[in-house]
Amino acid sequence: MSSAVQPAISHFGLESIDEEHRDIIQLVHEFDALLCEGGTADQIIDLFAVVLSNIKLHFEDEERLMLRSNFADFQSHKTEHDCLLDELNGIMKDCERGAYADRHQMLAKRITDWFKTHLKKMDAPMIEFEHRQQNHH
Ligand SMILES: [Fe+2]
Ligand SMILES: [Fe+2]
Repeated sequence: MSSAVQPAISHFGLESIDEEHRDIIQLVHEFDALLCEGGTADQIIDLFAVVLSNIKLHFEDEERLMLRSNFADFQSHKTEHDCLLDELNGIMKDCERGAYADRHQMLAKRITDWFKTHLKKMDAPMIEFEHRQQNHH
């Protein structure tokens, strides 16, 4: 790839990452609202599936970006992504069995807390690195 082409692609990548963060935060808020309103088990499971697939796609986009720019902390960042996905997949199975019937509030809070911490600790340094890469080309 020529250096003339790279900045435009990196820029696009970063913009979509920011947009994905906004979309996921919005989705988790919707999910939280549904839980507060006391949505049915089916509604909760359906929306949780949407949240989960958005998070999964977002992680894949970030990982692609980190690989493309040879980001040094790729492995530890990916490990955090994988841990959350494992945890959410487990919770999804519990939800499907009705095991989360009384613990809905915890679920939205757990996702929100994870995202806040991950954004600050992992995504922010990655985004800063990508911006710096972009400005060097
Ligand atoms: Fe991330
Ligand atoms: Fe992220």
